[in-house]
Amino acid sequence: MAKSGQHGGNVLQMAEKCGVDPDLMLDFSANINPLGMPDSLKNAIMTHLHLAERYPDIDYQALHAALSRHTGCPPEWILAGNGATELIFSIVRCLKPKKALLPMPGFAEYRRALQREGCEITHYPLLEEDDFQPTAHILSALTADIDCLFLCTPNNPTGQYPDLALLLAIVAHCQQHDIALIVDESFIDFLPKQQGLTAILAENPKLYLLRSLTKFFAIPGLRLGYLISADEQAISSMRNLQEPWTINTFAALAGETVLDDHRYIQQTYQWLDEEQRYLFESLSGFAALKIWRPAANYIFIRCLDETLNLQDALLAHRILIRHCANYPGLNTHYYRVAIKSHADNQALIAALKQVLPHG
Ligand SMILES: Cc1ncc(COP(=O)(O)O)c(C=O)c1O
Repeated sequence: MAKSGQHGGNVLQMAEKCGVDPDLMLDFSANINPLGMPDSLKNAIMTHLHLAERYPDIDYQALHAALSRHTGCPPEWILAGNGATELIFSIVRCLKPKKALLPMPGFAEYRRALQREGCEITHYPLLEEDDFQPTAHILSALTADIDCLFLCTPNNPTGQYPDLALLLAIVAHCQQHDIALIVDESFIDFLPKQQGLTAILAENPKLYLLRSLTKFFAIPGLRLGYLISADEQAISSMRNLQEPWTINTFAALAGETVLDDHRYIQQTYQWLDEEQRYLFESLSGFAALKIWRPAANYIFIRCLDETLNLQDALLAHRILIRHCANYPGLNTHYYRVAIKSHADNQALIAALKQVLPHG
């Protein structure tokens, strides 16, 4: 299968399919901060354009120092990568799990990384009747033969953040039973009240946190992510295994710049607070849609009119949403929409009023 079918953000291919100028397409399929790349970063890149003429620091010391300041974790616990995606593959390559438990639906790259290393996969279905949240049953699904678990908090595509007490029980269980627990916090920065699990890393060296800067700081094309764990041995061996210079100069500069851009961070919280409420409430007004309350910057939807292909219907209005048919555990009736600027969100609601049966 072409990679283009597997993720959101395929504006070029979809615009071509519909014969529309890609610049005129409203992309709700990729969950990127609509405030765009921070001005602090644009300025830093323009000032430092000449740095493209040199190799980046092969150890990215300034970047790791910035990530260390930001997370409160020692630099030895941190490995930066070319997006969280690179690190999903690196951690699996390093830990070489034999049998992993994979919640379903979930982000596709965990499966690809595990399969590439020949790891056997057992699925843990997240059920609609549980609002696609893990329950205490996950602890009994972690049988003695499982040596790896991926969790995504908040989960993609469902936008749900699990119950914190359960999450901590899962961490404790994995630590006790020697199970590598990889928690993907790529969207955690969109939850101002949620710090994630960095504070408990020291006492849980089987815990590995994945973070991404590409969504919150709107730099999916620059690419930057990082992994944090108190398992210094694993971090060090991943550092040794990593190909040189996978992070380009400007992505490294992004990590050194944007985490201190408190104005941008506050503006993002304010936008999300307003637009999360607006879009959730507006979507909830459609009888033909079932909506899940979002924890982050995207909303998971089920179209109850099973005769309607909502993605195709909205494409006629130059709006691209993510269909979730290729997530194992979901089907053609499920969709994910990003929360965008107020004007764009209004355009989505206006288009939905035209395509949904009862407005
Ligand atoms: C849950 C999740 N983790 C990781 C990634 C990869 O992020 P990055 O752009 O940092 O590689 C994505 C991208 O969509 C994602 O949805």
